[in-house]
Amino acid sequence: MIFKEKVLVTGGCGYIGSHTCLYLIENGYEPIIVDNLCNSNTEVLNRIKSIVGYKPIFYELDVRDENALDEVFCTHDIKSVIHFAGLKAVGESVEKPDLYYNNNIGSTNTLLKVMKKHNVKNIIFSSSATVYGNPKRVPIYENDPIGEVTNPYAETKVKIEFLLQDLANHDKTMNIGILRYFNPIGAHKSGLMGENPKGIPNNLMPYVTQVAIGLRDHLNVFGNDYDTRDGTCIRDYIHVCDLARGHVLTLNKLHQNSGLVIYNLGTSIGTTVLELVNAFEKANNIIIKKEFAPRRAGDIAECYANCDKAYKEIGFKTEFNIVDCCRDSWNWQKKNPNGFN
Ligand code: NAD
Ligand code: UFG
Repeated sequence: MIFKEKVLVTGGCGYIGSHTCLYLIENGYEPIIVDNLCNSNTEVLNRIKSIVGYKPIFYELDVRDENALDEVFCTHDIKSVIHFAGLKAVGESVEKPDLYYNNNIGSTNTLLKVMKKHNVKNIIFSSSATVYGNPKRVPIYENDPIGEVTNPYAETKVKIEFLLQDLANHDKTMNIGILRYFNPIGAHKSGLMGENPKGIPNNLMPYVTQVAIGLRDHLNVFGNDYDTRDGTCIRDYIHVCDLARGHVLTLNKLHQNSGLVIYNLGTSIGTTVLELVNAFEKANNIIIKKEFAPRRAGDIAECYANCDKAYKEIGFKTEFNIVDCCRDSWNWQKKNPNGFN
């Protein structure tokens, strides 16, 4: 295949990174993946090849390993970076804050250092709606306050955002995209790629699909006494393929010497836990056994995005709705009962 540019994709074997690699390839960008496989599997590279006919170049390395990363930049003429690599389990981050600080912030520091050495100016960073903490209002806008967060995972995202903002202020030649994802779910329509959680899923959709496939007995709905339309929490669930496309649009924007840009990537629609479960049941004709359980510590009642800025500046608009998400998540789980293993 002929590509117009090489893009380093850290964490490219993971859930969002792998789907983004597909869109990069389809849009003429060559992903060069680096991943230490702490939460992923190289089988995903074969799946990418099955879908787009090209197996990305891959290096098994830890982004904190400066020499190994430098070697990749020496070998390839990298023009841009998309930085997905990171640990993301909120509960684990409370147990092991040092691991999260070290991995997430450490890898970003090393990456920025090596980028500087090789004069690479474009970077997109995977941030999260979690940086808004318990939002003062919904929908949430990009200029709403960030930083009042309650777990080490969120703290690492906030600190990296501030670092990148300082960098953009200091060096006007840098083009930096900070993308605040809301709740990514769904899978590629082929059923060849999807979310592959290790152990008991923390997140709602993989838990639902594991109940559907019989790996878990029932779903615990954490809290039905919130001040929402049915008492369960509201989130903004975005299809992972829409999210992936958002990265390509942002990359195109960085190529116009954008400087720093920050976008919410969501659907602008709030969905309750029960609405999501109902949508899953209807889309797939499956009953999900569920029980109400106490609230989960740290959960907020409502979190959904205003995405007008991403629409105005990069033309980002979601193509998939919640039913598509439920259909594709189930299609992936059904075809891969044990994920990539
Ligand atoms: P994921 O765990 O599937 O992917 C992350 C990848 O990074 C994995 O393949 C893992 O092996 C790799 N990795 C981790 N630390 C590494 C290191 N030091 N060096 C090299 N590779 C490393 O997670 P995901 O859902 O694809 O998330 C991607 C990014 O998006 C993460 O930064 C996450 O915090 C962020 N994010 C995710 C969500 C979500 O709900 N999935 C929401 C908001 C933000
Ligand atoms: N939920 C259940 N039962 C479960 C799992 C989840 O009822 O077994 C509920 C939660 O209580 C919450 C909703 O489903 O009300 C969504 O929970 P998730 O864990 O799927 O998602 P969160 O919004 O809590 O957090 C996710 C990621 C974070 C990220 C955030 C914003 O896990 O890392 O979205 O992007 F920061």
